[in-house]
Amino acid sequence: MASQPHPSPFLISRLLLLLALAATSHAGSIAVYWGQYTDEGTLADTCSTGLYSYVNIAFLNDFGNNQTPSLNLAGHCNPAAGTCTSLTSDIQSCQSKGVKVLLSLGGATGSYSLSSAADAQNVASYLWDKFLGGSSSSRPLGTAVLDGIDFDIEQGSADNYDVLAKALSQFSSQGKKVYLSAAPQCPYPDKHLNTALQTGLFDYVWIQFYNNKGCDYSSGNINNLSISWSQWTSGVTATNIFLGVPASTAAAGSGYIPPNVLTSQVLPVVKTSSKYGGIMVWNRYFDEMSNYSATVKSSV
Ligand SMILES: *[C@@H]1O[C@H](CO)[C@@H](O)[C@H](O)[C@H]1NC(C)=O
Ligand SMILES: *[C@@H]1O[C@H](CO)[C@@H](O)[C@H](O)[C@H]1NC(C)=O
Repeated sequence: MASQPHPSPFLISRLLLLLALAATSHAGSIAVYWGQYTDEGTLADTCSTGLYSYVNIAFLNDFGNNQTPSLNLAGHCNPAAGTCTSLTSDIQSCQSKGVKVLLSLGGATGSYSLSSAADAQNVASYLWDKFLGGSSSSRPLGTAVLDGIDFDIEQGSADNYDVLAKALSQFSSQGKKVYLSAAPQCPYPDKHLNTALQTGLFDYVWIQFYNNKGCDYSSGNINNLSISWSQWTSGVTATNIFLGVPASTAAAGSGYIPPNVLTSQVLPVVKTSSKYGGIMVWNRYFDEMSNYSATVKSSV
């Protein structure tokens, strides 16, 4: 029997390099919501912090059911008066820094639902013409072409969001890819977004681990969060799955994870999934106040 040769120092150093690469491949990104608080600074300033890879403009909170869709961006601009077109240069500034900018549909307040497959197709065409690569004489955010659409569906019927996702993703064939993201609540499966998510068309899924007592972090206990994270990462096909967290205790009713707990206890658990993409922070206003993203960024 031939004796096993000892591995050479060269092989050992290659092996260590590979292990180091495998460890760093789990480095994640930070996504944030911007648009609901006037005092959170501009979109361009948000991107200039260098903290974020994705910014969701929140929200297009009226759409579907044959309504004329409308934006609500707090006091940042007046959609009805057409002053939100000033955001075009901010969006382009973000994109020039490599930050993807998406428009978030839905939110906690507003009037939205998709009454039929045809209604979903109409909303898809509207989003394409008004915010994406299509064209229209009146674009609410001006000429900038957004990177994609975020589904933050929290009310109404779950019907036809799968049709909307398919229709939006088909526009990718006309040029620039249309990224799709979703912000489901942490109880799995999500009652508003499950059918859409099962299309497997979503690039990023940032799960809201807050305001959901059965699965968010509570009183030093990460068991419920950990069980839910496993259900999501095994149940949903998406390029990257993100842990959505409040930026401070004021940002949500429950689920706040102190930065040291996030980095020492929670991230080591969620990073065991190859689908881990990073964290989503709700929202820029509270993040600016708390410095949460800056504090945890090197561990994300
Ligand atoms: C975990 O979730 C269950 C409901 O599924 C709840 O009763 C329990 O209080 C939660 N645990 C913690 C520590 O929040
Ligand atoms: C925010 O956190 C970063 C990283 O820990 C730190 O360098 C910076 O000074 C903090 N900023 C404020 C305003 O506390």
